Amino acid sequence: MNKSQIERPAPSRFRRHWFLAPGTVFLNHGSFGACPKPVLELQSELRRQMEAEPVQFLWRRYEERLDPVRAEAATFLGAQARDLVFVTNATTGVNAVVRSLELRRGDELLTTNQDYNACHNVLVEAAHRTGAKLVTVRVPFPLASPDELVEAVLRAVTPRTRLAMLDHVTSNTALVVPVARLIRELEARGVDTLVDGAHAPGMVSLNLSKLSPAYYTGNLHKWVCAPKGAAFLWVRRDKQAPVQPAIISHGNNTPRPGHSAFQDRFDWAGTFDPSAWLCVGEAIRWMAKLYPGGWPAIQEANHELAVRARRQLCQCLNVEPPCPEDMLGAMATLPLPERFQGRPRKGKIDVEQLRLYDGFGIEVPFIRVNERRYFRISAQLYNSLAEYDYLAEALLSLQPRRVYPGKGSIRR
Ligand SMILES: Cc1ncc(COP(=O)(O)O)c(C=O)c1O
Repeated sequence: MNKSQIERPAPSRFRRHWFLAPGTVFLNHGSFGACPKPVLELQSELRRQMEAEPVQFLWRRYEERLDPVRAEAATFLGAQARDLVFVTNATTGVNAVVRSLELRRGDELLTTNQDYNACHNVLVEAAHRTGAKLVTVRVPFPLASPDELVEAVLRAVTPRTRLAMLDHVTSNTALVVPVARLIRELEARGVDTLVDGAHAPGMVSLNLSKLSPAYYTGNLHKWVCAPKGAAFLWVRRDKQAPVQPAIISHGNNTPRPGHSAFQDRFDWAGTFDPSAWLCVGEAIRWMAKLYPGGWPAIQEANHELAVRARRQLCQCLNVEPPCPEDMLGAMATLPLPERFQGRPRKGKIDVEQLRLYDGFGIEVPFIRVNERRYFRISAQLYNSLAEYDYLAEALLSLQPRRVYPGKGSIRR
């Protein structure tokens, strides 16, 4: 079977609200999100206003625009605004926290082998600079229960553990991690937690004040569908004083009435375009209005779609699901069929992933975890169940290329 014999899937009725290229089957909301048209229209309007009066927009009346949006984001995240700052992405949030720690030789930083590479590198650099030790826990995958993950992390805690960095939703393996339980257990052992919630806001419900880790950073440009460059850092009040932004600017000696010192330090990082931050309120409101039942219903619908899509794909491809359904949010990672396994990667992107895009218009990431090959699907309102059937058929029709040692790969 080739691409012309596989029927193109009907898109979801919501797809018209996004600029996604016609002809693509976009199953990778997870990597960078995708922003709906009305939110991008607001961003264009804000940029027009900024260029009409740059000083008014960026300086004199900056807080008048920023503070109400921050208040909306805080309500959405179950936080108090004074504990919340915008940053441009979760990587920046992780950098701010880790680079503000006063680490000593022999201190331990705890993470897992399922963390996000960029954030892992932040810990590597901090350990290298200070003489701290980086402890990377190997989390099993496939796994049968969240207990396996919790136990693996807690087993690695020692009296020298200073900080544990935990993903709320893991990137490669798409697991929703029981962070509430882990934060509690780690706190009881005297360990602070930095939650890397890059995927969590908008995918799972969040109440930061209740969760109360030492630090939480998350993206708003992924599942909240704000424009790219919208993310936040929340720091528990008792931990705020030493936290410096990744970029030091005016805020360190320029207090503003009505703002916490934490906000002063983070609200301005040098001249930049704050329009993505200023669209966060619109993204939260617009998405909630789009779908009956608002955010709880969006999260439930996306979860349900991911679960049903995974069931169908497992059945069609004859593969086993690598984790229980209740560990899924709006993404799922599935093993590639056996005939794709054991092939070394050549270059940045797996060749079969490129062939899915070039031949079928399917955007879906291929992944390697614990020496096995997987792919990850995302489920957003603009996706339909038929799109995952199309992916299954495309994968079934795809013959992996044979790799002959020393001769590169040839098409079968
Ligand atoms: C767990 C995790 N952390 C951090 C990031 C980085 O996000 P950003 O590039 O927006 O900083 C990602 C991106 O997918 C991620 O999955």
